[in-house]
Amino acid sequence: MQYSERILNTPSSFIRNILKVTDAEDVISFAGGLPNPISFPIDALKASVDHAIRENGSRLFQYSSTQGYAPLREYIAAKYKRVHGLDISADDILITTGSQQALELIGKVLINKGDGIVIEEPGYLGAIQAFTLSEPNFYGVTLENDGLNLEELENALQQPNVKFIYTVPNFQNPTGLTYSKEKRQQIYDIIAKYDVALIEDDPYGELRFQGEPLPYIGAGKLENSILLGSFSKTVTPGMRLGFIITKNKELMKHIETAKQATDLHTNIFSQYVIYDYLANNDYTEHVKKIITLYKNQSDAMLDAMQEFFPAHVEYTRPEGGMFIWATMNNGAAALDVFNKAMEQKVAFVPGDPFYTSKTGVNTMRLNYTNATPEIIREGIKRLGSIL
Ligand SMILES: Cc1ncc(COP(=O)(O)O)c(C=O)c1O
Repeated sequence: MQYSERILNTPSSFIRNILKVTDAEDVISFAGGLPNPISFPIDALKASVDHAIRENGSRLFQYSSTQGYAPLREYIAAKYKRVHGLDISADDILITTGSQQALELIGKVLINKGDGIVIEEPGYLGAIQAFTLSEPNFYGVTLENDGLNLEELENALQQPNVKFIYTVPNFQNPTGLTYSKEKRQQIYDIIAKYDVALIEDDPYGELRFQGEPLPYIGAGKLENSILLGSFSKTVTPGMRLGFIITKNKELMKHIETAKQATDLHTNIFSQYVIYDYLANNDYTEHVKKIITLYKNQSDAMLDAMQEFFPAHVEYTRPEGGMFIWATMNNGAAALDVFNKAMEQKVAFVPGDPFYTSKTGVNTMRLNYTNATPEIIREGIKRLGSIL
C-alpha cells in the first residue's frame, strides 16, 4: 500500500506513545495531560442525560446541524459577552468535536502545502500534529515568560504566505506560561499590520488560581480573530465538545463546509446533555472547585521542586491550568533524563515534541493535575535525585 505524503510526514503523538509505558501502575506519572477525574460532575451529568432525553426524546439520537445545537451556541455567546465583553451572537459560533477538531479544520481551510504558520516555540503538540496534515512551513517564535518574542514575531510574519499565528495565551500547554497584558497589546499592534488570522486557543483560561484575568490579544478587535474554547478541562473531555468563535462570516462558511466533509456534525447527544448540565447547575461554583484542587496540586509540585531540584533547574510558576515547564541549565538532554527517570518509576514529557525545529532539548513538561500532593512530592523527590 502507498500512503499519502501528508500522513507519512505527520508524526504520531509522542505523548500518546510514551503514555503506553508511563501509565504502568507503579509509575508516578507527570507525563499525561488529563484533567483530574474527580473533577467530572458525573451525578449531575447523569441527571442531565435523563432530563435531556425526557425533554427532547429522539432529537438526541437524530442527525443534526453542522453548526451545532442552537441553545448551546446561545449559551456560549452570552457567556463570552458577559465575561469577556465580546460582541458575538450564536451565529458566530460553531461547535466542534473538541477544540482539537477546530485546529484540524482551520488547517484544512487556510493552508495550502508550503504556506506559513507562525507557532509558539515550544507549542502545543496536538496543534503541531493537526496542522502538519496540511503540509505547512512552521515559523517558530520563542515563547518568553510574558509571551511571544516580538522581534521574532515580526520576522516570522514577513515570511512567504503566512496564513495565521497560533497562540495559547493563558496557562499555555506545555509551559504553563501566560502572556502579560503589555505583551498582548504589543502583539496585537504587530499583527494588525498584516493580512493574517490570529488563533487564540483557550481551553484553560477559566482555570486561573492566581492573578487577574486578562483581555484576549485579538478576539473582539481583529477582523481575522479565531477564538477556540472547550468543555474538556472544566466539565469532561470524553464528551468531545469544543467551539470556534469568529465574526468573519466567510471564514465561518468555509469551516462549516470542512466540518460537513469531516463528520457532518459533532455528537448531538453530547451537545444536548452538556447544555442541560450548564442550564441546570452552578457551573461557576463547579469551576471554582477545580481551581482549588489544581492550586493545591500546583503548590505541592512547586514546593517539592523548591526542596528537591538542584539550582541549575529553572521552572515556570503557572497562574492556572495544568502544567509546569522545567529547563535544565547543565547541558543535560531531556530524553536521557527521561530514560533514567523511568528506571526510578517517575515520568514526564521530554520537551522535544513541542518544538517544530529543535531536538535534543533540555526542557520537560510536568503535569500536576493527576496525583495527590503526597505522590507529587515523592515523584519530584525521585526526579530531583536524578537531576
Ligand atoms: C492548548 C490545547 N488546545 C486544544 C486541546 C484539545 O482539547 P479538546 O480537543 O479536548 O478540546 C488541548 C488538550 O490538551 C490543549 O492543551
